Amino acid sequence: MKIKKAVIPVAGKGTRFLPATKEIPKEMIPILNIPMISIVVEEAVKAGITEIIFVNSRGKESIENYFDRNLSLESFLKEADKNDQELLIKNIGTKVEVLSVRQKEQLGLGHAINCARPLIGDEPFAVLLGDDIMDGEVPGIKQLMDKHEELDCSGVIGLFEVPKDETSKYGIIEGDIKSEGLYKLKSMVEKPLPDDAPSNLAVPGRYVFSSEIFEYLDKIPRGVGGEYQLTDAIKLMAEEKDVFGAVLEGTRFDTGSMEGYLEATIAYAARDEKLKKVILDSVKKYT
Ligand code: G1P
Repeated sequence: MKIKKAVIPVAGKGTRFLPATKEIPKEMIPILNIPMISIVVEEAVKAGITEIIFVNSRGKESIENYFDRNLSLESFLKEADKNDQELLIKNIGTKVEVLSVRQKEQLGLGHAINCARPLIGDEPFAVLLGDDIMDGEVPGIKQLMDKHEELDCSGVIGLFEVPKDETSKYGIIEGDIKSEGLYKLKSMVEKPLPDDAPSNLAVPGRYVFSSEIFEYLDKIPRGVGGEYQLTDAIKLMAEEKDVFGAVLEGTRFDTGSMEGYLEATIAYAARDEKLKKVILDSVKKYT
């Protein structure tokens, strides 16, 4: 079955970006002039997703509004003969169907995904986490959607290699290699200390699941940090069903951290010759 729906959890408080996130959703903070959430949605749309399901919380309405039409702004731009900008704004509001569901309590990523269940039904679906920007020729999530179709399995999890001392920041898999970059999952553990990590293959916030994942999300107890962890549901599912991990091609920016956010900003800016010159001149001048 072709995957048409993607779940993007956006209910978090974005505490690492306070004070900006006191009044602005973290996801609306831009890389240059594009809100981070727009880059993630664009990845999904390029992959063929037609329906985005935001799992959100109070105070995050501006995310949905961003993907809605803004007719008064459109007509203002039209009257001002700013046709390129008018088209840009119109495209944002028409490119994808957006639905949302509230996560009424912040009980973890597993809980957030389970909140989307009524809007998913029996279909397979994609999950993209907004703190990870995947950049490359083929959208990260598309690579997983293709593998899911090819392998006809219960789930495919994106992977990337991390240095051993960084395992405690991620979900880490234990798997058997099937072919280059493809692993059959045996187990998975959330944020293990380096000595307890079963591998250095980490999950960068891109997943594809069949609706079977909901059965496992219902079974898990609270895990690391007292939260319902998606990782624990994947672990249970991998014990009974076929779940694969695929190493993603492309660059990952961890925009959940200030360092990764800065790196992404520089990488995006450097694509424009004028901005690239500003970066290089500024580095000389201010560092
Ligand atoms: C979440 C997941 C983790 C994954 C990470 C990717 O953790 O629980 O398995 O590796 O996203 O960014 P978080 O960073 O939300 O704590």
